[in-house]
Amino acid sequence: MPVAAASLPVADGVGLPWDVETRDAVEAIGAARRRIGDTFVVESGRDHYLFTFSAAGVESFYALPEESASKGLADYLMLRRKLPEELFAGRRTLPGTLFRRDDVTSYLANLERALDHTDVELGERGEVELFEMTRRLGHRMGLASWAGPGCSDGTAFERLVAAFDALDGSDAFVHPDAMAAIAASDKRAERAALEEVVAVVGDALARGESIAADSLFGRVVGAWADEPAEVRTRGIALDVALIHIASMSNLMAALGWALVDLIGHPDVAARVVDGDTGLASRCALESTRLAQRSIMSRAVVTPVEFDTGDAVIEVPAGWTIATLLPLLNTSAAPGLERWAPDRWNRYRLADTRVLDSPMLVTAFGHGKHSCPAQPFSLSAMTTAMIRLLSRYEITPQWRRYPRPVPQQIGGVARSRDECRVEYVRFGHAEGRS
Ligand code: HEM
Repeated sequence: MPVAAASLPVADGVGLPWDVETRDAVEAIGAARRRIGDTFVVESGRDHYLFTFSAAGVESFYALPEESASKGLADYLMLRRKLPEELFAGRRTLPGTLFRRDDVTSYLANLERALDHTDVELGERGEVELFEMTRRLGHRMGLASWAGPGCSDGTAFERLVAAFDALDGSDAFVHPDAMAAIAASDKRAERAALEEVVAVVGDALARGESIAADSLFGRVVGAWADEPAEVRTRGIALDVALIHIASMSNLMAALGWALVDLIGHPDVAARVVDGDTGLASRCALESTRLAQRSIMSRAVVTPVEFDTGDAVIEVPAGWTIATLLPLLNTSAAPGLERWAPDRWNRYRLADTRVLDSPMLVTAFGHGKHSCPAQPFSLSAMTTAMIRLLSRYEITPQWRRYPRPVPQQIGGVARSRDECRVEYVRFGHAEGRS
């Protein structure tokens, strides 16, 4: 007999960080799991979350149909805490449509150009914060790929970087504790940043440069061709903004962790630099797995029967079903807490016999909502890793492995600690103390 979700044990005193002050919500939910077991309810604000961690529960989670338990709606409910509502209304080109084969080729060409810029900015020697560098690299590659002519250089680029740093949707899960203040300000800074994006993209359009119709920006422009000028410019700019915000949530943080791990494993880094791209890709996957802080959630829109293995639970509309990758990825079997790139065979774990289900561990998700950007992201990460490590001798300035932002609940970890490195371009080491 199915049991009602409302009759399940509740994790007393636990709330989600956008509703209640919590220093480390992942740890608090982990503690609730140790107390209660793999299935329990968190009541937070006015919302109910059914958390699931059993093998059968996680498999059921990835099998939930979008029509009754929606990832799109769950994402929207999360992101709207940070982003102005008008950004979501009426979009014509969505982030999920970004990864056609030819698109990826052009993004990777833009990545090479962005890496050329990084070379120029770094110069022959110096010191830099690793995650700031990868973030800037991501802005430049992304804006060159989908923001229109001139948007990845000079003043237009700097204006967009400042605007997107204010309009960063991932703040909703990296700094969930800041969402109450953002609501109180009626998203004033975010709205101003959005207007800045409209202005810069508008300038790019006004220059009248020819735009390849089959490029991503060309497709965005084409989607608004039938509208009067003002509606068109705003529509194009908001499409670009949503695409760029989606691209910012994971990729460049994951690249940062991959570099941290390779810098800490010089023997493996040497093989990567020698051109072992398969190994580079396994390293990228492994660092991403370990850095995962994602809450995976589905907003229930029509009641669902949810099988956790021990019971079938009737979950009413309005509830959210969720699991947390950081409580599974490093503990679902012994040894998973270690960085071991060879545990991967292409996109899969080489040996899943030790796991109750292969779905208990992931970097890019499982099932129909798994990340459409995985092949692109791994290519981009490996290209950047090989390029940076083969060009620079890098010396980390941190004394212990960087820790994630404790408040973060979602996406790939951001580092709470500064990750400064000293670097010297190979061939220019003379005079280094
Ligand atoms: C290292 C980089 C990345 C990681 C680790 C990552 C991770 C993930 C994960 C775990 C999911 C599944 C979430 C779920 O089931 O709830 C997902 C979905 C998705 N990702 Fe990524 N992602 C990355 C890069 C990107 C980039 C660069 C983009 C695009 C701009 C992107 C766009 C998407 C979209 C649109 C979905 C939703 C797919 C759907 O609902 O069908 N991702 N990603």
